[in-house]
Amino acid sequence: MSEPSHSTSKIEIRALRKSFGSNEVLKNINLDVAKGGVVALIGPSGSGKSTLLRCINLLVVPDGGSVRVADTRFAFGDGSNLPDVKTLARFRATTGMVFQHFNLFPHMTTLQNVMEGPLTVRRMARADAEKLARAQLAKVGLAEKADQYPATLSGGQKQRVAIARALAMEPDVMLFDEATSALDPELVGEVLNVIQQLASEGMTMVIVTHEIAFAREVADRLIFMRDGVVVEEGPARQVIDNPREAATRAFLSHFHRTGALPPANATS
Ligand SMILES: Nc1ncnc2c1ncn2[C@@H]1O[C@H](COP(=O)(O)OP(=O)(O)O)[C@@H](O)[C@H]1O
Ligand SMILES: [Mg+2]
Repeated sequence: MSEPSHSTSKIEIRALRKSFGSNEVLKNINLDVAKGGVVALIGPSGSGKSTLLRCINLLVVPDGGSVRVADTRFAFGDGSNLPDVKTLARFRATTGMVFQHFNLFPHMTTLQNVMEGPLTVRRMARADAEKLARAQLAKVGLAEKADQYPATLSGGQKQRVAIARALAMEPDVMLFDEATSALDPELVGEVLNVIQQLASEGMTMVIVTHEIAFAREVADRLIFMRDGVVVEEGPARQVIDNPREAATRAFLSHFHRTGALPPANATS
């Protein structure tokens, strides 16, 4: 089920398909992310962005195609067996995911939240897990919040803890699903700064975002999705400044006019 690959890309998606009942949500998606590459994924609500991210770490099991992250590859569809639970858990541990909502454990301190994965999934010794967790908290600028509970933190701080928690698994790639969409506007910048810092350190990332200016600055590639297909893909600046496809232009022009996400289906 897992086999080494000699490709230089860190993430390789081929002919990926996923339906929920009769709703075909991903239709033949192909995607490559180079080692250290940052891909921004944009598109209207319901276009399949979250499902694609979830297929990359197999939170959602695809119906067909293949997914490779680093050296681990899974194929889906005719004749292929579903990976067992243990294999899945190991794989998910190497793909850090950060969601719109932080999902921190409320009864644990910040430090305990970040230590939890290293302790239970990676089975690290407590002292090593703590050292690692403190280092990740320092990285996101929250060393001094180690002993506080999530309820005492701002939304931006909680999201930075969620990033530290994902980093503590020392993942091959990081996946962000609208990590700043639930934040008050004044708290967005501190989270984007952390993501930008990870980019500059060479972390391979796929970022679903509505922050077009940020995507233009930080991503090297941009993918515009609609209705389960990749409509346009290219260097981030080129696609944002000079989109080829009418659908991409319509979607982006809404941002340029209003600075806001267009309503669902506004680009059709
Ligand atoms: N678990 C699920 N069960 C059924 N339908 C789903 C599920 N997750 C997503 N969908 C549907 O898949 C489509 C794409 O959703 P999603 O991937 O969340 O899009 P986006 O993130 O671009 O807004 C939508 O029509 C949504 O209703
Ligand atoms: Mg989504």
